[in-house]
Amino acid sequence: IMQQFGVIGLSVMGKNLALNVRNHGFSVSGFSIDKPEVDAFAKYEDDKLKPCYTWEEFVNSLEKPRKILIQIMAGNPVDQTLQKLLPLLDKGDILIDGGNSNFHDTTRRFEEMEKHGIHFIGMGVSGGEEGALNGPALMPGGDEEAYNGVAPILEAIAAKTPEGRPCVSYIGPSSSGHYVKMVHNGIEYAIMQEFSEVYDILRKIAGKSNDEMSDIFAKWNNGRVHAYLTEITTNVLKQKDDLTPDHIIDHIMNIASYKGTGNWMLEDGVALGAPISVVAEAVIARFMSKATTREGKSVVWNGDVPEDLIDNLEKSLQLTQAVAYAQGFQQLTMAAKAYDWKLRYPSIAQNWEAGCIIRSSMLKDIEKAYADDKELDVLFQDPYFKELMENNIHALREVVSLAVKAGIPTPTLSASLNYLESIFNPSLPANLIQGQRDYFGAHTYLRNDREGTFHTEWYEEK
Ligand code: 6PG
Repeated sequence: IMQQFGVIGLSVMGKNLALNVRNHGFSVSGFSIDKPEVDAFAKYEDDKLKPCYTWEEFVNSLEKPRKILIQIMAGNPVDQTLQKLLPLLDKGDILIDGGNSNFHDTTRRFEEMEKHGIHFIGMGVSGGEEGALNGPALMPGGDEEAYNGVAPILEAIAAKTPEGRPCVSYIGPSSSGHYVKMVHNGIEYAIMQEFSEVYDILRKIAGKSNDEMSDIFAKWNNGRVHAYLTEITTNVLKQKDDLTPDHIIDHIMNIASYKGTGNWMLEDGVALGAPISVVAEAVIARFMSKATTREGKSVVWNGDVPEDLIDNLEKSLQLTQAVAYAQGFQQLTMAAKAYDWKLRYPSIAQNWEAGCIIRSSMLKDIEKAYADDKELDVLFQDPYFKELMENNIHALREVVSLAVKAGIPTPTLSASLNYLESIFNPSLPANLIQGQRDYFGAHTYLRNDREGTFHTEWYEEK
């Protein structure tokens, strides 16, 4: 008998996704070019799970049209896998790339596979190893007909929102699925950096211990910032070290690594002219953590600790989390226009409500803000988010100015504040920039009182 689904790449993510498929009653074949991975996979062998040791054995074990998930390292290995598969496939087969592929690569592969009559789905997968096994968030893009062919399996294995809806839906054509995953990761970088800055203020200004901070984040998780990242921050802060009597957080080197998906969001944001300042600051904060000389001394705060500091930090985190999402959706809106995609924003929010790293209860409010295909240039045009901004912006101003006084850098908290101070501001000073451009380069400008393009013969003092 033929298997209903195939997985190529059996390291943690691939293996767990294959087991997830099997656990939902579908039969699955697994293959890897790494024999020990197949051996490990073979330990789970039963009538619904088949380990394969060659390309041919794998491809021939699958019912047609074949449905194959490629879950391997992004980059060249994906192209090599496609070259190996191509001669073995039939027209109408469906390939899914579940890695963190760059969306430009996915566009190219989608078009190349299309020429051969093969459906190619670029799919963002979020939630780490645990999610892969028990319910990831999935962001598939490609042609919709192909998506419909794999939808029953993807819907079965995906995480479910609290209302029981699956965290997967058709995102849009071509590379839009990987694009949405890239934006997910940019938001992930932004929110993680916001948490780090709040942690820095808690320890250096409020003088809180790790256990106290862990308790504070736990309270926030039941309060204004109900999110997976809040939950794990609580756990990271209270974890004891295996090697010393200390908390592990105090022995983790403060240099942030990255595989680059957040950087990619920034790259395309620049190409589109998207004002994603918080994502930019978060990416650069990781660079900064590597670039800093580590000379000098740490901040010691001798001033007063405002009574409402903890409360203000909670409000700031809630508001700046909203800014991170807002900038993500703003870039998606601009990308959809530029690349001619029709994105369904409520479904994207729903996709992120469970299973993924940036899941939080706020995504439900974002889903509502975009309901009925409402077009928003900026999330804060929505009444709920406008009110959130009005209620919390004072707290954020207080937090940022206190950090400035103490000498604590707050790149993403400040960038969030600057974003909010700018988006509804009709009198930003860009008129001066236009004047200067026209002065030195006759670049012309628009006027605020009449139509047309203008240039001034500027008076130059001799
Ligand atoms: C997810 C994550 C994941 C990503 C890690 C590491 O949604 O499960 O986004 O896909 O690989 O977060 O990313 P960095 O190494 O760039 O921090």
